[in-house]
Amino acid sequence: MKTKVCEQLGIEVPIFGFSHCRDVVAAVSAAGGLGVLGATTFPPEQLEVELRWLEERLQGRPYGVNVLMADSRTEGAVEDLERAIPPQHREFVQGLEQRFGVPPLRKDAPAAGSIYQNMELRSTHGWARPQLDIVWRHRPKLLVSALGAAPPDVVERAHKLGMKVGGMTGSARHAQKHVAAGADLVVAAGNEGAGHNSDVATMVLVPEVVDAVAGKVPVLAAGGIGNGRQIAAAQAMGADGVWLGSIWLTTVESDLDAGSVEQLLKAGSHDTLRTRCWSGKPTRFLRNPWMEAWDERDAPEPLGTPFQRMLIAPSYQRIVAAGMHELMAVPVGQVVGQMRARRRVRDVMLDLQQEYLDAVSRLYAIQPQV
Ligand SMILES: Cc1cc2nc3c(=O)[nH]c(=O)nc-3n(C[C@H](O)[C@H](O)[C@H](O)COP(=O)(O)O)c2cc1C
Repeated sequence: MKTKVCEQLGIEVPIFGFSHCRDVVAAVSAAGGLGVLGATTFPPEQLEVELRWLEERLQGRPYGVNVLMADSRTEGAVEDLERAIPPQHREFVQGLEQRFGVPPLRKDAPAAGSIYQNMELRSTHGWARPQLDIVWRHRPKLLVSALGAAPPDVVERAHKLGMKVGGMTGSARHAQKHVAAGADLVVAAGNEGAGHNSDVATMVLVPEVVDAVAGKVPVLAAGGIGNGRQIAAAQAMGADGVWLGSIWLTTVESDLDAGSVEQLLKAGSHDTLRTRCWSGKPTRFLRNPWMEAWDERDAPEPLGTPFQRMLIAPSYQRIVAAGMHELMAVPVGQVVGQMRARRRVRDVMLDLQQEYLDAVSRLYAIQPQV
């Protein structure tokens, strides 16, 4: 199963595990893959705590960090940006709160954690730079930029510090941009996957990206990969490795709230939708009535980035404080239909490898008819 990317990063198997949860990241790296921490939600001081914890836990084993470095950055104070939100959008959101009975925020309500933290700031340039200042003090083996290519000074500094640079991409053109900007690998994130993804399915995107980078850097396939058969398929399409996000959400190590885990374990592959109502960019989530309401005929078009997040952030504070799981935003891909039981990360990693070996043996057993 070892490929070029394993040598590049000093890992045993080319399985990358993306998570905002440090326990998952540590467990993926400990099992021979590369755990990658999604830094998006962490203010700098918390990111410092997370990275220190990971390095103590991993004792020199490699891990990675993923930071949103959006191409389309909107600068400015949050209050100034908020003034640009049209009143009809605010009215629509108030209407949704009433319709779904979202109660007002209690004064003593704890701040919403996990993916709901600091939502309104995340796509701004001012959010990513202080996170990078923390990354420079640590030694992740891989720094991955999402939503845009890493700027030249970031690539240069990462390389000087001995880090490899990766780029999330949803198209062949963006993959070439990442390579031109100095990326050492690209992650082709297809339409089936959780979070921000491509208009194009993984099955089509991966070979396109592989051809576009023409062997200059390894390509990882992401989106719709949750078992070893899918890993074998990704390699058949020319990918050097795979990048998985959804599959970890229902692991024992995951910090996702128990109510959401329960929903995921029951959901099928049809129970996700791709919507702009979270960040302004198309993102895949577990389907729920709040998100479906944005597709109704009288709904306004979601705003762009970062305005849409600013618009909905207060509602999510209330939804989370009230424990309304049926309305929470749970990013998950179509592989949710394969997530049927709570397993330890280590067991997921072992199953992935065993299924991969079985799939490859089956392929070898096919007698080519010429
Ligand atoms: C809960 C969750 C949050 C995510 N947040 C991010 C993120 O902040 N940055 C990013 O580049 N990708 C993010 N993703 C997407 C993953 O990096 C990955 O592309 C995707 O999960 C792969 O498809 P899969 O879900 O089918 O495994 C997220 C995925 C999940 C499940």
